[in-house]
Amino acid sequence: MQGARSSAVRLLLLSCCVCAAAGYPFRTPLDLDVTPRVTVLNSGLQGCRRFQSSAASYSTMLLEADSERLFVGARGAVFALNASDISASSALTIEWEASPEQKRQCLLKGKDNKTECFNHIRFLQRFNSTHLYMCGTHAFRPLCAYINEEKFVMSSQPEEGRDKCPYGPMTGFTALIIDQQMYTASQYEFRSFPDIRRNSPSPTLKTEDAPTRWLNEANFVGSALVRESLGSSTGDDDKIYYFFTEKSQEQTTTYSHSRVARVARICKGDRGGRLTLQKRWTSFLKARLTCSLPEYDFHFNMLRSVFVMPGLTPQDTLFYGIFGLEWKNVKASAVCRFSLSEVQEAFQGPYMENQDSGSKWKEYTGKIPDPRPGTCITDALRARGINVSTSLPDDVLNFVRRHPLMSRQVQPSDRRPLLFRRTTDYTHMAVDMIQGLDGRTYHVLYMGTDEGWLHKAVEIEGQLHIIEELQLFEKPQPVNSLLLSAKQMSVYVGSPSGVVQLPLSSCHRYTSCYDCVFARDPHCAWNGTQCVDVMAQANRSTLIQDIQQGSRGCENTQHDVVVRSRSVRVGDDVLLQCELSSNLATPLWTLDGSELQGYGLNSGFRTGTDGLLIIEARQDQSGLYTCFAVENSINVAIVSFNVTIRLDLPPPSPVEPTKEPYRFYATLLAPTVHASSERPPPPAPLLPHSELLSPRNMEAIYLSLITIFGGLCVVLTVVLVYVGFCLRVGNRGKYSLRAAASAYPNSKRHHRNRKQHRNSSQMELKTISSHCNGNGICNGFSKQHNGNIQDGGFLQIVPGEAHSSPNKESPPPAPPLPPTPQHPSPECDFPSGLSATLPSVLRRMNGNSYVLLRQSESESTSPLCYSFSEELNRILEKRKHTQLLPRPDESSV
Ligand SMILES: *[C@@H]1O[C@H](CO)[C@@H](O)[C@H](O)[C@H]1NC(C)=O
Ligand SMILES: *[C@@H]1O[C@H](CO)[C@@H](O)[C@H](O)[C@H]1NC(C)=O
Ligand SMILES: *[C@@H]1O[C@H](CO)[C@@H](O)[C@H](O)[C@H]1NC(C)=O
Ligand SMILES: *[C@@H]1O[C@H](CO)[C@@H](O)[C@H](O)[C@H]1NC(C)=O
Ligand SMILES: *[C@@H]1O[C@H](CO)[C@@H](O)[C@H](O)[C@H]1NC(C)=O
Ligand SMILES: *[C@@H]1O[C@H](CO)[C@@H](O)[C@H](O)[C@H]1NC(C)=O
Ligand SMILES: *[C@@H]1O[C@H](CO)[C@@H](O)[C@H](O)[C@H]1NC(C)=O
Repeated sequence: MQGARSSAVRLLLLSCCVCAAAGYPFRTPLDLDVTPRVTVLNSGLQGCRRFQSSAASYSTMLLEADSERLFVGARGAVFALNASDISASSALTIEWEASPEQKRQCLLKGKDNKTECFNHIRFLQRFNSTHLYMCGTHAFRPLCAYINEEKFVMSSQPEEGRDKCPYGPMTGFTALIIDQQMYTASQYEFRSFPDIRRNSPSPTLKTEDAPTRWLNEANFVGSALVRESLGSSTGDDDKIYYFFTEKSQEQTTTYSHSRVARVARICKGDRGGRLTLQKRWTSFLKARLTCSLPEYDFHFNMLRSVFVMPGLTPQDTLFYGIFGLEWKNVKASAVCRFSLSEVQEAFQGPYMENQDSGSKWKEYTGKIPDPRPGTCITDALRARGINVSTSLPDDVLNFVRRHPLMSRQVQPSDRRPLLFRRTTDYTHMAVDMIQGLDGRTYHVLYMGTDEGWLHKAVEIEGQLHIIEELQLFEKPQPVNSLLLSAKQMSVYVGSPSGVVQLPLSSCHRYTSCYDCVFARDPHCAWNGTQCVDVMAQANRSTLIQDIQQGSRGCENTQHDVVVRSRSVRVGDDVLLQCELSSNLATPLWTLDGSELQGYGLNSGFRTGTDGLLIIEARQDQSGLYTCFAVENSINVAIVSFNVTIRLDLPPPSPVEPTKEPYRFYATLLAPTVHASSERPPPPAPLLPHSELLSPRNMEAIYLSLITIFGGLCVVLTVVLVYVGFCLRVGNRGKYSLRAAASAYPNSKRHHRNRKQHRNSSQMELKTISSHCNGNGICNGFSKQHNGNIQDGGFLQIVPGEAHSSPNKESPPPAPPLPPTPQHPSPECDFPSGLSATLPSVLRRMNGNSYVLLRQSESESTSPLCYSFSEELNRILEKRKHTQLLPRPDESSV
């Protein structure tokens, strides 16, 4: 009877998921979504140094190639930190907060007293060999000041900064000091037009607003000087490139977007026009940057950040951009890379024209005046007597004035993103170049997210492989800035709460040859006994590394597999623990050498990502179980269990049996490596009283559960349809329900998270908390395949026994009730989509059905730390032992 009900629950859940999946409004490029191979939680970060102070919002950083000091601008202070160890107490500080009077005026202007009415350091760069220059918002009245670098003090009274610095902390802004001239781009005052300026000394130049507005609500994210004059045969000038997102002007036939990403450029030697374009750039041109997946109609129009990668010559300069979708509620990021030559080609191409000052921009097909409008002064022009831009003919300048936009779009390398990732908003990145042992040069990207994670990725054949994701902060917070230092072998990350310094690589995290090679980290190689940092090795001839395929080289290395012996009683549920350190690996189990077929409902087996569950063990299930991690088509044995299932096994622990026949408890017999093996098994929690579990009560519980889940399903379905795109295929230890038919065909791409497709015919208890052990102790340190389970972890139900509890007579705990679906709090954007609303914890009811019980929001413990064993522990606590009880509810098994 109750079996029927439980299958009803199951059916309901399944149909709920199926219909939710059917309501999926988008085809999403699942096969392109790159999963980080290894997840390292905050508590497991190694070699990490932090700097924090009473100041907040560490947003600007300056570290020069040979410098020992890292300069950091925060809210109300600037710091000089020891770059080799930022946590050292040797930090020097310049306090610079706005005066109370200035803050009061800021409040009177109606500004936010929590964010805007402070002095946020927005600019900090070298001015000359002895001085730095900085600008702060100064409670909505920007000021700038020189810093004497050696003494680290302000060397003069602050000066007016209104033409150089934005007023608020969030306003898009980029600036450079080049030859002691400051080039800035921002929307300075609240209602002013955005502007690219060269400030003092004169001549100051700006962008034009009429009759054609050159910039439309531009939000600047970066700028770069490219010294194209170096080695130029044409006497070309240096150029400054600007990167921003602005309101779109052009309308193309295929699609239209309200905002588009752009690159603009100016010539450094520009001096403006004489009559036309007086005190305006004569060399301003802009073009659209495209970063899209056209086959899915995904256009990433919002440029969030750029990194300029200098090449051997200026012509080899590369621009890396992080792009997002225009839809604010959806988290997604793409990384595109542009070459300088692509950008130059666009500026050499046709212009756009706004014919009748309306909104229609079309390609200009008329005559183009000579010299070509918007070009820098070259030898050819000098030969014609045009030495400076003020000598340019009027018709050329008039043309420039009305034709700032190029028709050709700048396409990324390979015409597609290097990386696409749902559910992640990258905020900043930095790129390093490193030579692999194969002689090739690899680009390694470090990308910070809006939730304080750092992703390290390597580009292989035009695609990014994410080597690892590191949780930098316990509390989610956006990465504000990111810097690399080859000299210090460090990556520095600024955030609202502080600065973090991390080593560029942590090769020792990989504990086997396969692990080291699968990682495909150009910094790391296997030396025969350890995964070592290539840079630190004098003799590299024997090192093993395979970045291209991530599979070769370990065939002849020693690989020991630990065999553990276990004896259990017939009818017990046994969990054989096998955690995979890699999110890209899939588990494969063999029993006496042959693959365990089908972990289906009636097979008596169930796999989670951290173990195999033998349900109600039968004697014929005895044998040698081996767990393999399958990655890059290679099966790596991780652990073996010699399991003996007997009828006559005595109870494993000398616990006094109680007379309560309905009591049961579960013992995690093998704490994992991080718990001392001396540690006693976790005390059995108070168990529900038998009355609660009586058939009548169970009936009531099931009925209410069915009702609640029915309601939950409806809500879920609606929400799914609404924000279908952002169904988080979370890989950070969340349990997720996966619908039956995968709408997405398998793909050859090896980067895809295969876990998403596993067990597609049933719901799956899914954890990827491979870095949490069974006791909930997080240790992000990736575990050794052989060493992570010291005593052969498995779960076993011990019938009829329980620790006698002093609270025995207290009322039984109420059955856990599913809370109503919570909506994300207003502070957190909706972007994480369904992950916020999908119940994230499954609980096994009776038989084989898993039931959703809780939501991530309601979890007090970190949802990242759930593991199969932990969850099972709880499940088993709630479950009657079959041998000691008439089992009306287990008939469905
Ligand atoms: C920076 O820290 C390193 C290591 O702690 C130390 O050797 C060095 O002297 C420090 N430098 C300064 C300028 O304090
Ligand atoms: C900011 O303003 C709010 C409301 O006007 C007020 O409650 C709060 O105390 C102020 N905070 C500070 C730091 O002045
Ligand atoms: C650098 O600039 C500062 C501020 O203008 C000035 O006082 C100092 O003399 C300059 N140093 C050099 C070496 O030119
Ligand atoms: C332009 O350059 C030529 C040759 O370099 C020089 O003779 C002439 O004086 C320059 N004109 C101006 C206006 O600077
Ligand atoms: C590998 O590197 C480790 C640490 O540097 C060293 O102790 C070990 O001897 C090396 N093994 C071989 C075979 O070189
Ligand atoms: C590097 O190690 C290999 C193998 O051990 C050896 O044959 C070779 O001579 C070594 N090279 C150097 C430069 O030490
Ligand atoms: C498994 O254990 C049994 C006894 O418990 C033993 O007889 C058998 O040889 C073991 N098998 C392996 C493969 O270790």
